[in-house]
Amino acid sequence: MAEVVLVDTEADAGALAAASIRALIARKPDAVLGLATGSTPLSVYAALAASLTADALDVSRVRGFALDEYVGLPAGHPESYRSVIMRDAVVPLGLNPENIQVPNGDLATLQTAGLDYEAAILAAGGVDVQILGIGRTGHVGFNEPGSSFASVTRIKTLAEKTRVDNARFFASPDDVPIHCMTQGLGTILRARHLILLAFGQEKADAIAAAVEGPVSSSKPGSVIQLHPHVTVIVDEAAAARLGNLDYYRYAWANKHAWQGI
Ligand code: F6R
Repeated sequence: MAEVVLVDTEADAGALAAASIRALIARKPDAVLGLATGSTPLSVYAALAASLTADALDVSRVRGFALDEYVGLPAGHPESYRSVIMRDAVVPLGLNPENIQVPNGDLATLQTAGLDYEAAILAAGGVDVQILGIGRTGHVGFNEPGSSFASVTRIKTLAEKTRVDNARFFASPDDVPIHCMTQGLGTILRARHLILLAFGQEKADAIAAAVEGPVSSSKPGSVIQLHPHVTVIVDEAAAARLGNLDYYRYAWANKHAWQGI
C-alpha cells in the first residue's frame, strides 16, 4: 500500500519530499533523480534548492531523467520540457546539465528515441527516486488512460483535457502539442521510490482512483498500487475523496522518525 501523507500546504509537501531527496544524495552522491515538470513539483525543487543553499551538499554527480517531453517543439522552445526542467530544477539546484537527460521529442528520431531513453536509464543503474504529479485524466508521466502497465518510453497522444490544462503555458491552446514522448508506466514502476504529489480539489478524483481505486489501465495512476515503495503527499483538498483518511493520519502520527518516507 502507498503511504499517504496529508500536509497543510504545498510548502510542507515540498519540505518533506526535499528532505528525503537530500538524504538520498547524502548517502549516494551520484543518485539518479526522476524529474517531473508542471506546477506540482515546484515546491519540492524550491525546498531542495533552499536546503542546499542553507547547508551545501555536493550535487555535482547527481544525475536526472525527465519524465516526458513534447514532440515537435523547436529546440530551445521555452515550454519544451528540456527548457522547463533546466529552469525549474537544474539551475536552482545547481545540478550539472550534462548529467540530465530528457526524452527526445525531435520528429526525425521518434522511432528510436523511446528505446534509446530506456537504455540510458538502464545504463545509469535506474532511477532512485521518481517525483510524480498526476493529471486530471489520472495520467502519470503522460500515460493517458488505457496505457499499458508494461509500457516503456514511447510516443503518446495527449488527451484533449490534458492539452486544455497545459494551455496555460502557451500563447494559444492550439499551440499545445498533440503528441509527447513519455516514460511508460513500466518504466516508472522500475524506479526504486515513487513520490507522488497532488494539490487542490481538481486532483481529488485522480488521487482517489490512484490510491484506492481498482488497479486498471483506465486509471493510470493506479499503477502505484503495484509498487513496493510509494509516498503520496497530498493536501486536504486533493485527499478529499480518499476513504481511508483516518488510517493514513493515524499511521503517519505513529510513525517512527527513523523510518523516513
Ligand atoms: C509532468 C508530467 C505530468 C504532470 C501532470 C500534472 O512531467 O509528467 O504527469 O505531473 O500533468 O501537472 P501539474 O503539476 O502542472 O498539475
